[in-house]
Amino acid sequence: MIKAIKGVKDLLPEESPRWRFIEETARRWALRYGFQEIRVPIFETTTLFARSIGATTDIVEKEMYTFADRDGSSLTLRPEGTAGTVRAFIEHNRAADPRPQKYCYAGPMFRHERPQAGRLRQFHQFGVESFGVADPRADVEVMSLLWRLLSDLSLPGLTLEINNLGYTDDRARYKPVLVAFLKGVEQHLCANCQRRIEANPLRMLDCKVPDCRTATEDAPRLADSLSPAARDHFERVTAGLQAIGIPFHMNPRLVRGLDYYCLTAFEVTCSHLGAQNAVGAGGRYDGLVEQLGGAAVPAVGFAVGLERIALMLPEAVVIPSTPRVYVAAFGTKGADAGFSLLDELRRAGVPADMDFRSASLKAHLRQADRLGALYTILLGDDEIDKGIATLRNMQTKAQEDFPIRELVSSLQSRLLTSVSTPFSS
Ligand code: HAM
Repeated sequence: MIKAIKGVKDLLPEESPRWRFIEETARRWALRYGFQEIRVPIFETTTLFARSIGATTDIVEKEMYTFADRDGSSLTLRPEGTAGTVRAFIEHNRAADPRPQKYCYAGPMFRHERPQAGRLRQFHQFGVESFGVADPRADVEVMSLLWRLLSDLSLPGLTLEINNLGYTDDRARYKPVLVAFLKGVEQHLCANCQRRIEANPLRMLDCKVPDCRTATEDAPRLADSLSPAARDHFERVTAGLQAIGIPFHMNPRLVRGLDYYCLTAFEVTCSHLGAQNAVGAGGRYDGLVEQLGGAAVPAVGFAVGLERIALMLPEAVVIPSTPRVYVAAFGTKGADAGFSLLDELRRAGVPADMDFRSASLKAHLRQADRLGALYTILLGDDEIDKGIATLRNMQTKAQEDFPIRELVSSLQSRLLTSVSTPFSS
């Protein structure tokens, strides 16, 4: 038997209403904030990711799904959505458009990580990217979108952590100070951190290995190397969050696993998620557009992990379901008329179904129950002869007769008034 590969998951029909609910909630919030959907390819040239995410990051060093195309060029399945969105922004000269360039996206991402609960090799993100605004209100806007949408989903135990990563110059000033300190405690660090002392020393600030944490407790702080401009930007970000009542915690050890960030970096964690506790994360990346060959365009964004949200979404959250009609048609004339009626209902926008394998009334009603139908139309040869059909309310079991030709319009109006989002699926 051929099975799905390790770290990828099937999404079965029973789970899809939850997923659709999460995706629709995220999209609705993003649209409310003026973000518009962009769809970028799932694979890109490898250089795009190496140059944006950073050659010495875990993602680029060991997690990318990279393969040779037939002409020998190196391609990679996208490990995240920012790089491709920036490439598209540059390629389509969106910087020339005076309207706000605020994009959102959803889709699969690929990282060769060790699979565990909430960590997959093919996972799904919903993300937003806001281009062109250096004003700290853009940082506050994306963080508030992230916070509001996760809160709207009633996710429990959320914390927003933020840090100021400063400008490139600030970090360049900090790096030798940190490296000098790390060399003094090198023997207490994990192999990964030891290896990265020179190449990517900041990453070790958020290393989760307890010995590394202890050894770097007294490490010099990035905050002490920040320029007045970086401090000012961040102060305005925190003031903006306070002004609109978004709770946050300062975490001076928050450095992201992607190299493109500057100034504001943030992460939302959930206390119910165990080791993989980051639900969403992002930050400002003012240098990236230019680094990839575009103009000097500031930008800020975030992405949330949909699998992690699905894990945390409380069972009590009521997922709106679409009311369905089941057509229980039996007898020779009934079966033919029932099939036509089924088609008519669907064309009129009424979600309707019939199990063609069921022959008896009893079998039909059992299927109608299993499918969660709100109403069942009973249609046998006798009913056809009389030009009527029986409508059975599956909850109350009450039945009433209707002229067949009035059925569709009657069901349309009944179902339209019973839900707020009519016939969305
Ligand atoms: P990231 O922190 O690498 O950032 O990923 C964002 C979110 O994706 C994580 O918080 C997590 O919920 C989810 N995630 C990451 N890896 C996995 C995995 N292996 N399995 C399941 N979920 C995962 C980025 O990707 C940036 N592009 C975010 C961003 C957008 N920054 C600016 N704009």
